Amino acid sequence: MTKKELIFKYRNLVSLGCRLHNLPSRLFRVRVKGKNNRIEAPCALLKQVSIHIVGNNNQVIIEDFSQIKNTKITICGNNNVVHLGKRTYLFEVEFFLEDDHNVIDLQEHNIIMGPSKFSTIEGTKIIFEKDSMCSSECNFRTGDSHCVLDLEGHRINESRDIILREHSWVGIRVTCMKGADIPHHSIVAACAVLTKRYDEPFCVLAGVPAKIVKRGVDWSMVRIPVGDIPQGYVSPVNQEWKERDYQ
Ligand SMILES: CC(C)(COP(=O)(O)OP(=O)(O)OC[C@H]1O[C@@H](n2cnc3c(N)ncnc32)[C@H](O)[C@@H]1OP(=O)(O)O)[C@@H](O)C(=O)NCCC(=O)NCCS
Repeated sequence: MTKKELIFKYRNLVSLGCRLHNLPSRLFRVRVKGKNNRIEAPCALLKQVSIHIVGNNNQVIIEDFSQIKNTKITICGNNNVVHLGKRTYLFEVEFFLEDDHNVIDLQEHNIIMGPSKFSTIEGTKIIFEKDSMCSSECNFRTGDSHCVLDLEGHRINESRDIILREHSWVGIRVTCMKGADIPHHSIVAACAVLTKRYDEPFCVLAGVPAKIVKRGVDWSMVRIPVGDIPQGYVSPVNQEWKERDYQ
């Protein structure tokens, strides 16, 4: 039986272990002011996590086998959702949801390695599909917080969703502004600023504002030597996706 199958078989036991681990208040601090707010983390390891909610009908769902450390979730408003899917790993992340109907959805097996901030306002979403990795000091903001006006006084800076599609790697100090949409199997270079939708996968996006600087590349977390592929090493470069996009 593999380690994964073993964990699933004894899920209830693992869940009990997680609950006991998360019990001391210094590991998991919750302050809620409002009605019908739901916080669930039945089978996740939490350490120095604080959740502060002011409003009604909000949800914070942390799914199984996630590890969330030194993380702060603040919700000011109603009907907001923070969903951290299975096998999410977060270290020093801040989530801030302001106004109503915002969603932060890290769908499955996403890793965020360092101090990074996620802010949503005005009913927008930040979605990370799956298997992505984000380095430290990154910022994801679906809105500008303040208004940009034309000279007749109409507001022109609409808040918009941010999407990071499957298996993308976001380098250090990247900023994703409203409307950023990063294709699957992308690499976002250090310090890039993204403000729009990009359509081409298997690329490096770099600069301010970000542009494609390299095509036909993928990435892997496993460090292998430059040059020949080592014997017995199975490349994670995803054949299925490549065939789909290059047909
Ligand atoms: C994106 C990255 C991986 C690309 O590496 P690479 O494939 O070896 O690419 P190269 O160094 O050949 O660069 C390709 C081009 O992009 C440019 N470029 C690379 N990184 C850039 C950056 N951060 N900003 C602007 N341009 C950049 C290079 O100048 C080069 O331009 P040229 O073709 O005009 O000479 C690397 O530059 C990077 O930013 N790494 C981030 C590392 C990180 O944050 N790690 C944290 C751990 S999670």
